[in-house]
Amino acid sequence: AAATAGLATGCAALTGEQAGTTLRSDLTPPEPFRVRLPIPATAEPVSPGRFEVTQRVADVEIIPGTTTRVWGYDGTFPGPTFDVRRGEPVTVTIHNELPAPTSTHLHGGVTPADSDGYPTDLIVPTGLDFEPGHGSHMEVKEWRLHDGSREYEYPLDQPAATLWYHDHRMDFTAPQVWRGLAGMFLIRDDDEDRLDLPRGEYELPLMLCDRAFEDDGSFKYPSIDDSLLGVPGVEGDYHQGVEGDVILVNGAPWPEASVANTMYRLRLLNASNARRFELAMDEVGFTQIGSDSGLLPQPQELETLTIAPAERFDVLVDFSQVPVGTRVVLRNRLGSDGTDVVMRFHVDREAESGAAVPRRLVEPATMTPDEVVAARTFAFALTNQGDHQMWTINGRPFDPEQSLASPRLDTVERWTFTSDFHHPVHVHMAHFQVLTRNGKPPAPEDAGWKDTVDLRPYEVVEVAIKFSGHRGRYMIHCHNLEHEDMAMMANFDVV
Ligand code: C2O
Ligand code: CU
Repeated sequence: AAATAGLATGCAALTGEQAGTTLRSDLTPPEPFRVRLPIPATAEPVSPGRFEVTQRVADVEIIPGTTTRVWGYDGTFPGPTFDVRRGEPVTVTIHNELPAPTSTHLHGGVTPADSDGYPTDLIVPTGLDFEPGHGSHMEVKEWRLHDGSREYEYPLDQPAATLWYHDHRMDFTAPQVWRGLAGMFLIRDDDEDRLDLPRGEYELPLMLCDRAFEDDGSFKYPSIDDSLLGVPGVEGDYHQGVEGDVILVNGAPWPEASVANTMYRLRLLNASNARRFELAMDEVGFTQIGSDSGLLPQPQELETLTIAPAERFDVLVDFSQVPVGTRVVLRNRLGSDGTDVVMRFHVDREAESGAAVPRRLVEPATMTPDEVVAARTFAFALTNQGDHQMWTINGRPFDPEQSLASPRLDTVERWTFTSDFHHPVHVHMAHFQVLTRNGKPPAPEDAGWKDTVDLRPYEVVEVAIKFSGHRGRYMIHCHNLEHEDMAMMANFDVV
């Protein structure tokens, strides 16, 4: 309850484009476009199909001239990018050397339940005196604790897509991701290879997120108790979600990338806790080729694109439309005072990536309305729970013992999401297609197979969701990470 007391006061206006409340940095942020766009290292297997990653504390330079203590996979923020192939299963052993327990979720992965990174299935650093559930919004009966490390199994029996991985610890996902526990995970396949999309230096993973900084360069986050193992939750008016005033791309503030005057493929991920972006490029548009869970049947042109937390957009941009020497700014139309710009591309040379926009991409997915065997509704809303209010699904705060649905394996259901605020809705394991948004056809941003949908205030979104993959317990939750930590999660069981 400590985490949510006084929630009502933070929610005066549950409308508008902003999903969270902006936390101001104490230091003066650097001028934009001074830092070069970093590209995260690629994760290298220790033997074929086997990866080892160590979560540790590291001091890195994010704001020039200062150091920031991060919690990183292999001590980096973002963590290393996985570049793997469909049909070639991998195991990832995570060693936890942080001062707190962790759980790693492969977001978008069709993963066996045991490896899904359940919030109470934790790797506890060896020797840490950890009292599970201390200060939590509820009493959890069963915890699964692994000493020091554990192995996650990823079958990768799913189409090429832009996935990501991040922390999912019960009650503490928001502060732990804020500290740096997130990385990209790219799955490729033969269908994608046939398309001759830009690759190598012409393919850029771009992890967008926002952060705020203390005077000394350390991350600022409004935790109720910053002892890492103490009481979870945020204080002050941040119950809607925490936004920062510094925009980072691949962990660098408003960076600049040097590019050639040719076609590029950008893998856009919004890894923010709460911030939504409406992205626009000066002088060049986006050609979207893929969504969260794979390639689209055919490309679509987008002048701007709205990306909610945890969504991914796989886009082509053609810098041959501008003369060499041009500087193209990637803007955020939902931002202000600095958060209205994201990064800049300096078209500084001639080169030819050899790629063109394919006319067709992959076979369209076949899901017909008569395949739907059940319909369910999930209402995302602030509700009264005793003497306080909580972010809930169907009126209930998260309870690991309870399950809201038991869909059958290999069936399709129609799920309806309703909201009282911005709630990016994410479903684990199962992918879906948006059928309607407020009774109308889906928005362009809803195209394709998805695992996260941008649910805005007072909206109703219907999706057709396919439960193929694995049986077991999975989750549906809001991907505003503060809402998630404040119990806006639920289980479902694939049976
Ligand atoms: Cu990206 Cu359950 O999370
Ligand atoms: Cu939410």
